[in-house]
Amino acid sequence: MSHIDLVSLLVRDYDEAIAFYVGQVGFELMEDRPEVSSVTGAAKRWVVVRPPGGGRTGLLLAQASDDAQRAAVGRHAAGRVGLFLHTDDFDEAHRRMTGAGVRFVEAPRREPYGTVAVWEDLYGNRWDLIQPVGNPDGPGAPEDGWRFDPHVGETLFSAEAIAAKVAELGRRITDDHQGRTPLLVTVLKGSLVFVSDLMRAITGPVELDVLAVSSYGEATKSSGVVRIVKDLDRDVAGRDVILVEDIVDSGLTMRYLLERLSSQNPASLKVCSLLIRDGGQRSAVPIDYEGFRLPASAFVIGYGLDAAQLYRNLPFVATYLP
Ligand code: IMP
Ligand code: MG
Repeated sequence: MSHIDLVSLLVRDYDEAIAFYVGQVGFELMEDRPEVSSVTGAAKRWVVVRPPGGGRTGLLLAQASDDAQRAAVGRHAAGRVGLFLHTDDFDEAHRRMTGAGVRFVEAPRREPYGTVAVWEDLYGNRWDLIQPVGNPDGPGAPEDGWRFDPHVGETLFSAEAIAAKVAELGRRITDDHQGRTPLLVTVLKGSLVFVSDLMRAITGPVELDVLAVSSYGEATKSSGVVRIVKDLDRDVAGRDVILVEDIVDSGLTMRYLLERLSSQNPASLKVCSLLIRDGGQRSAVPIDYEGFRLPASAFVIGYGLDAAQLYRNLPFVATYLP
């Protein structure tokens, strides 16, 4: 691991630059000590400021010491935005900086990657103040490649965590079905990704059949109305059936399918669901193999789960930002 620790910023005067960056922008003064130039032997200071809150990259405030350097003060990126300040609360930072006299050169705007406004330091160097979408700097940041999709929120279950859970469920199903051939019955389309991984985590003979139901169209709330769009290919009588679901939310879909399957006299009937929404089971169903519990409030996407048919291909499960 490596990262950029310091960026030098040429300033006219140490103290006026500290007054601006600490007093107005709100950075912290991390270091301020006398130094002697290894090149010229002249006295100088080592002055480092950093944004508060554990931001990693700091600014070395470097006082210009000759004409070329003095001419470059305020021309850090020759008029372009050259520095990027990230925040997890744009409104608070914008209000505080404006109140402290920092000059913003434009009104805040919404971009696909976040909320942003350009401001200038005391020399005219331009900065972006940015609150990235999905708050991608913190823990639970969306995974690489999806960080800047405005609808992909925080990662609840990473690809690695899902793989470990699927392996564990596969082992348990294998152990519980020694000498038998379980029939995995799954429900299109959300469970497709899960079942394809799960069946490969089961050692020994296994069969697969699929049902297609439609419970609610493009909405994000369960209606409880279940319609069979495609039925099973074969009878489940005498079979050891495992109903594989992506998520049990209200449990209404599952309850309906369990009643339908059990009326066909399987030898056994079990349920495996990757996700179970906490407090969501209006129609409580027993779940034999459960993956992860999900907070009641989170609508999630990825690993097969969709929002209006999109995002099934995320390799992880994340919250959906409408
Ligand atoms: P239930 O009948 O309310 O249990 O509905 C379960 C079905 O609703 C799942 O198979 C999903 O297709 C869908 N669903 C419920 N919650 C979510 C979610 O958070 N994201 C995506 N689909 C969901
Ligand atoms: Mg589904």
